[in-house]
Amino acid sequence: MQTEIPDYQKGSGCAVKTLLKGGTVVSGSKTAAADVLMKDGKILAVEQEIDEADAKIIDVSGRLLFPGFIDAHTHFDLHVAGTVTADDFQSGTKAAIAGGTTMIIDFATQYQGESLHEALNNWHKKADGNASCDYGFHLAISDWNHSVSEELDTIISEGVTSFKLYMTYDEMYMADKKIYQILKRLKEAGGIAGVHCENKGIIEALVEEEKAKGNYSVHAHKMSRPAAVEAEAAGRLLKIAQVADCPVIIVHLSSEAGYKEILYARERGQEVYVETCPQYLIFNEDVYDLPGFEGSKYVISPTIKKESDRQRLWELLKTDQIQTVSTDHCSFTLSQKAAGRDDFTKIPNGMPGVEARPALMYSFGVKKNGLTVEQMCRFLSENPAKLYGVYPQKGVIAPGSDADIVVWNPETRWTMSVGNQVAHVDYCPFEGISVEGKAELVFLKGRLAAENGKVLVEKTGSYVARNRHMELAQWN
Ligand code: URP
Ligand code: ZN
Ligand code: ZN
Repeated sequence: MQTEIPDYQKGSGCAVKTLLKGGTVVSGSKTAAADVLMKDGKILAVEQEIDEADAKIIDVSGRLLFPGFIDAHTHFDLHVAGTVTADDFQSGTKAAIAGGTTMIIDFATQYQGESLHEALNNWHKKADGNASCDYGFHLAISDWNHSVSEELDTIISEGVTSFKLYMTYDEMYMADKKIYQILKRLKEAGGIAGVHCENKGIIEALVEEEKAKGNYSVHAHKMSRPAAVEAEAAGRLLKIAQVADCPVIIVHLSSEAGYKEILYARERGQEVYVETCPQYLIFNEDVYDLPGFEGSKYVISPTIKKESDRQRLWELLKTDQIQTVSTDHCSFTLSQKAAGRDDFTKIPNGMPGVEARPALMYSFGVKKNGLTVEQMCRFLSENPAKLYGVYPQKGVIAPGSDADIVVWNPETRWTMSVGNQVAHVDYCPFEGISVEGKAELVFLKGRLAAENGKVLVEKTGSYVARNRHMELAQWN
């Protein structure tokens, strides 16, 4: 079937009524054959049969219609490790929309001495007017003090309702006492924290041991961050959260040992949300032993763990023990990675993924690992929308919601490669991987913004102020 794209849709004419006809609408709880009518950026109707004489009709038979995917974990234009990420908001959000992601939530980062408002203003300057998908911000807190605590209520009322805390990294490290104080304050103010769980002290000691043995290669990165590093920090965080009586999110979970700590906390009655990322589901630790300097492409923290961890993460998704799959897109070029050719601790940590996530999750999740399309919808769209306070504006195809719609062709087979990616980075960590399924048409607030991996309309993304997170008890 050849989908006919009206010219008006390629420009700014989304005020025209558009009818997506003959597709299968996916939500977190069901799939159903339905037509979708949209106008002025919103969904007007979702019904089995819509006949609208004055609407432009696009035939989407044989296609799945997902609510626009949300990537709740990106780092664009981030100054870190003496350099700046390869993707900024222009290239990062173009990569996002090309792959079917219509909203990202990036980590506005408070550097030492800054107020939260300064950090937020800095991130608005980076993003505003440059984004090709919608965007919101979390705030990564690195400098906690009385005046920052006082800012929290206004920050939350301005639509930044989630925060990130790091239990490792010199510049961002947060000690237990401060984590406790922040969680207690967030509970009062109605915010929620996502926490990077790794034990800083163990990592430092293991790095010293590796270097003392003369091990400076990528392999030593894996040796310095075993699963217990994540598990210890996750367990400690969750005990702190128990005392503070505050829900938390464990971001980028990579290990079974880490999950066991989450299970204990849930058994104690705590509200814990969990995010993982495609790299932990697709690769295992063998990537750190690739020939030459290849392994540097996968130098990320937490590290990619053992095969048994990878398999366990799929089981946890299948049983909905994990709530979201984001990317932690934090890209560096090969020449940036080369800074650590002789010393693995100098390799900037992070990898791209914002563009690849939907196709990876459809191909590896739905086609190969038994996820349902409803689960894919939950992990990539509905759950992040609920957890980060944008549901039902986003995360669902329903009357009144933003017309962010991904027309998914389940039959398209293609191969991931640096040559066909939009992200501004000179390698693809998924190079040569054949996948099934592709975002054929991507509508952002009713406007056709991307088609088959090509961006048609740039910089029409806008800032989304978010509400407080929807509590788990209200999710169904
Ligand atoms: O290696 C990673 N993941 N870099 C990005 C920052 C973070 O820890 O999320
Ligand atoms: Zn992190
Ligand atoms: Zn991150």
